[in-house]
Amino acid sequence: MKYVIGIDLGTSSVKALLMNELGEACGEASKSYPLIHKQAGYSEQAPEDWVKQTTEVLKELIARFEGNAEDIVGISFSGQMHGLVLLDEDHEVLRPAILWNDTRTTRQCEEIYETAGKERILSITKNPALEGFTLPKLLWVKEHEREMFEKAAVFMLPKDYVRFKMTGAIHSEYSDVAGTLLLDVPNKKWSKEICEIFGIKESLCPPLLESHGFAGTLTAEFAGSTGLSAETKVFAGGADNACGAIGANILKEGATLCSIGTSGVILSYEAEKNLDFGGAVHYFNHGKEDAFYTMGVTLSAGHSLSWFKEQFAKEETMEQLLAGVEDIPPGANGLLFAPYLSGERTPHPDAKIRASFIGVDATHTRAHFARAVMEGITFSLNETIEIFRDKGKQIDTIVSIGGGAKNQAWLQMQADIFSARIVTLNREQGPALGAAMLAAYGAGLFASLEECANVFTSYKDEYVPNPENVEYYRKLYALYQKVYPQTRGICEGLMEFR
Ligand code: XUL
Repeated sequence: MKYVIGIDLGTSSVKALLMNELGEACGEASKSYPLIHKQAGYSEQAPEDWVKQTTEVLKELIARFEGNAEDIVGISFSGQMHGLVLLDEDHEVLRPAILWNDTRTTRQCEEIYETAGKERILSITKNPALEGFTLPKLLWVKEHEREMFEKAAVFMLPKDYVRFKMTGAIHSEYSDVAGTLLLDVPNKKWSKEICEIFGIKESLCPPLLESHGFAGTLTAEFAGSTGLSAETKVFAGGADNACGAIGANILKEGATLCSIGTSGVILSYEAEKNLDFGGAVHYFNHGKEDAFYTMGVTLSAGHSLSWFKEQFAKEETMEQLLAGVEDIPPGANGLLFAPYLSGERTPHPDAKIRASFIGVDATHTRAHFARAVMEGITFSLNETIEIFRDKGKQIDTIVSIGGGAKNQAWLQMQADIFSARIVTLNREQGPALGAAMLAAYGAGLFASLEECANVFTSYKDEYVPNPENVEYYRKLYALYQKVYPQTRGICEGLMEFR
């Protein structure tokens, strides 16, 4: 029996998943690391923490593994996207990584459009300039930490740095660098034009592999500290959303994913490299060779619910909090929530917007509020589905993963708000599974990712839209859509009081 490991380097923790070639999970381990918020809007992490905790989870996984470490034939990655890791010429980390959820770069995003023109940026990168992306972070360092910028010899994305420390080889891959704003996405190459316009040395950009591409074997030191064999092959891996899609079998035209983690995404497979969404959604390279996906992101999805629980149900479990929600009818008795706790991306790229509850009255209980939070998150995700449908995409069935797939009331809510059939996965493992599948395909255990998906994934339950609820939510959604334009000015004014 052969085995592979998928490592998911997330925002709050790293998870390692051991799978056998029959698609059975044989072990997993995870460890967390802190986020550093030096000031409002800043979000950083120490790359050394990722490496330390990845070493720990692998050590734990191997210690519990009853088989032979030599039979683990491949390791690959899923990683939080966009984070900027800067290395000097000795490949030492120059400063803490600036993460995807750091919003200090509004000014740099404006500069990007002013200097290069929005149309040009969209035609090369297929994506809008957003605070979370990597180029604005590079420009921020260039402007505010000039010395650091001058010293930088190469930049990397989070999982690429961990892979580098495991193998000694420097690479990135298309699905992750698609979110840097430095990649010519349709043609899969670093954009010389963008580098030139913004004074980014091309040598800062690492060589690129396919997601299943071979990156190297483990260093003797890393193998020694984890119990893995130094022969273990390491494959490039993909962005977390690309890996989430692979692990949910989103590998052909028409396949759509709803993933609710800290942020929430609606992601749709795309075979075409040059459709024009005008930057309304993200347009990234898939972890499957020469494929793409389009995606809308609501920044505070699961985060809205965990924030709510932390503030108002701290002593209870999430299950206890959500148990009350099932008894509340759709619409939460006229209470609406807009989930903009930390700004928004799709369809309102706006770092300054903030969340609101609207329609609160004295009859509302905590369960009404919890239901409103879940509905607000789902309405926000529906805005991406509408963008896709307006472009003629057929969205009949959506695979739901993450926190949104753990609660039946929420799954039915998704079916009713999205007006689509919702299916869940057996043995859902999130992006770590997609990473393991990239390793299995890279190591030659399967002839294609699709073949691997047939063995590693299968559907479980299905939720069908209830026509009455669909109609009810359609009316409420029209009101929800008014919240952003009507609260934008107020939220901007309130910034002054923070
Ligand atoms: C995608 C994005 C998030 C992070 C979360 O553009 O910013 O999904 O990848 O890890």
